[in-house]
Amino acid sequence: MSKQTILVTGGAGYIGSHAVKVLQQVGYKVVILDNLVYGHQDIAETLGAELIIGDTNDRTLLDRLFSDRQITAVMHFAAYAYVGESVTQPDKYYRNNVVGTLSLLEAMVAANIKTFVFSSTCASYGVPQQIPITEDHPQAPINPYGATKLMVERILQDFDVAYGLNSVIFRYFNAAGADPDGAIGEDHNPETHLIPLILQTALGIREAITVYGSDYPTADGTCIRDYIHVTDLAEAHVLGLQYLLKGNKSEIFNLGNGNGFSVKEVINAAKQITGKPINVVMGDRRAGDPPALVGSSEKARTILNWQPKYADLNLILQHSWQWHQKRHA
Ligand SMILES: NC(=O)c1ccc[n+]([C@@H]2O[C@H](COP(=O)([O-])OP(=O)(O)OC[C@H]3O[C@@H](n4cnc5c(N)ncnc54)[C@H](O)[C@@H]3O)[C@@H](O)[C@H]2O)c1
Repeated sequence: MSKQTILVTGGAGYIGSHAVKVLQQVGYKVVILDNLVYGHQDIAETLGAELIIGDTNDRTLLDRLFSDRQITAVMHFAAYAYVGESVTQPDKYYRNNVVGTLSLLEAMVAANIKTFVFSSTCASYGVPQQIPITEDHPQAPINPYGATKLMVERILQDFDVAYGLNSVIFRYFNAAGADPDGAIGEDHNPETHLIPLILQTALGIREAITVYGSDYPTADGTCIRDYIHVTDLAEAHVLGLQYLLKGNKSEIFNLGNGNGFSVKEVINAAKQITGKPINVVMGDRRAGDPPALVGSSEKARTILNWQPKYADLNLILQHSWQWHQKRHA
């Protein structure tokens, strides 16, 4: 039997590239669609998958792509994900994340492709009412980025009813770490995520890491977040895909570790792993940062039989450090 082909949008980006790697490992053929606004051609090339440089808003390209290739399913990572920028330039986010996704979904329906795996976010919950957050927690995003993801979730419900397009929606917490083999990893530019910022400080690329707020109602006063290893995240996506391909109905899953770590705890662990001094500057709180965000992933563990292999902050930091040293050598 020939291999099934999966289209991975945003496959030259951080999480998408790790999903491409796991898909290939379990025997799928992958086609990447990425406009390279934030993605990296060299990372896509390392993976050896076909890379189509293009945009989800280009319907003509999508129609051609779907008619030229036999695509079984789509994993959709392509989006803009800078929360602060989404506040100052909401039009950019609604156009890319909502209109771009709609264009992709319409092209899928036209090509009779009915299986879709979507990257949503814990930012769609807004400020949590209780912790750990379960999938039935009310969704009330407090920024346009989170709103774009919630809108796509609603579009997916409606496309399921109207066109039988089945989807698995993953709401993830903080993706972190890097491919354990060291071949690919996180390279956002600009970088806003805590662990890469800390490691770039350890490497001397940045002078200091700023901690935004030390007076939160947490044990050490800094914010608590749930870090999930990117390879565990990628494996969950493959399980979600296979769940749909077996004929199951649309579903929504959180993906987190169920464990929170404070900013100070992450910095201290990084000092141990890197053996380097890390300059820390204490700053003010940022608007809209909840004190703690921790997700329950029991549903993914039970229904998808997802068993994260790297649910350990030290492993996440080790893999990330291995990648950062190589990338910035
Ligand atoms: N990183 C996290 O912790 C996190 C947490 C929750 C959700 N997410 C979601 O996961 C997905 C991937 O995030 P990431 O951290 O890998 O980001 P990333 O920026 O590394 O990857 C996104 C990729 O999509 C591409 N892209 C963007 N818009 C496109 C378009 N219209 N057409 C084609 N390509 C396009 C970019 O060039 C980039 O390669 C995003 O949808 C993001 O919202 C990420």
